[in-house]
Amino acid sequence: MKQIGMQDFAGKRVWVIGASSGIGEACAIALFAAGALVALSGRRVQNLQAVAQHGKPNQSLILPLDVTEPPAIQEAYQKLMQEWGQLDLLLFVSGIYIPLRADNFEMESAEKTINANVFGPMRAVAAVLPNMLERHSGHIAIVGSVAGYSGLPKALAYGPSKAAMINFCETLFYDLQPKGIGVHMISPGFVKTEATAQNDFEMPALISSEEAAKHILDGIREGEFDIHFPKRFSGFLKFLRLLPYPIYFWILRRFVKI
Ligand SMILES: NC(=O)c1ccc[n+]([C@@H]2O[C@H](COP(=O)([O-])OP(=O)(O)OC[C@H]3O[C@@H](n4cnc5c(N)ncnc54)[C@H](OP(=O)(O)O)[C@@H]3O)[C@@H](O)[C@H]2O)c1
Repeated sequence: MKQIGMQDFAGKRVWVIGASSGIGEACAIALFAAGALVALSGRRVQNLQAVAQHGKPNQSLILPLDVTEPPAIQEAYQKLMQEWGQLDLLLFVSGIYIPLRADNFEMESAEKTINANVFGPMRAVAAVLPNMLERHSGHIAIVGSVAGYSGLPKALAYGPSKAAMINFCETLFYDLQPKGIGVHMISPGFVKTEATAQNDFEMPALISSEEAAKHILDGIREGEFDIHFPKRFSGFLKFLRLLPYPIYFWILRRFVKI
C-alpha cells in the first residue's frame, strides 16, 4: 500500500528518537549521508554526541530526552521547532525489551514496557501532529516489531506493546492519508543490536542495524505504509498469523525452542 514518499532526504528535517544506539543510530548515520538535518534523541547524551560526529557540524541537533517523561518530549519538540521551524519526518525508533513469560511475569516490567513502547510513541506523535495537520504535510514513522503480529514466547509485555503500535499506525494511516501526511509502520525481524545481545537463542534471519536502516529509509522514500523486513522472516510470520490457532500453536511449539 503506497502513499506519498519522501523521495529525497537532502535538506529534510528529521527527528530520530532512539538515535543513541542500534537501529536508530544506523538510521541517523544513513540520514546524515543522505544530506538530511537530523535531531538526535535518547537518554545517553554521550552516545548522541558520538552519533552526531557522523554528520557535518550544522547537520545535527542533540535533544536528550526520556520518552517516559511527557514534558521532556514537548520541550525537545519546542526546541526543534525554534531551531528549524518545521519537522518533515518523525522517526520513532526507541523501545525496550524485557523478556517476560508466565513464570516471571511481574507488573513493574510490564508497566515500564508499555510506558516506553506505547505511551512513548504516542507522546511524540501528539507533539508533532498539530503542526503537520496545519501544513497538510509531514511523515510519521514508528518502529514496532514482527513480535506484534501474534503471540510469541518471552514477549508477555513486549508483544502487546508492539501489537498496540500496529493498531496505532493503522488508525493513524486511516486519519492522516487524506490529510497528506505519510504514515510508515515499521516491523523489523531480528536485528543485531544491544537489545538482542541478551538473547540466548539462535535468531533466525538476523540482519545488521545498517541493513535495517536501509530497509527503513528505502520504505519511507517509496511511500510504503507497511515496512517489514527481512521479508523471508517477516513474510513467514505474516503467513503464520493467518493460520487457525491449533495449527499456529502447533508450529510454534514444534519449531520455536525458547
Ligand atoms: N533488534 C531487534 O531485533 C528488533 C526487532 C524488532 C523491533 N525492534 C525495535 O527496534 C527499536 C530499536 O531497538 P534496537 O534493537 O536498536 O535496540 P537498542 O540498541 O537497545 O536501542 C534502543 C534505543 O531506544 C532508546 N530508548 C530506550 N528507552 C528510552 C527512553 N526511556 N527514552 C528515550 N530513549 C529510549 C535508547 O536510547 P537510550 O538508552 O540512550 O535512552 C536507544 O537509542 C525498538 O523499538 C525495538 O523494539 C528491534
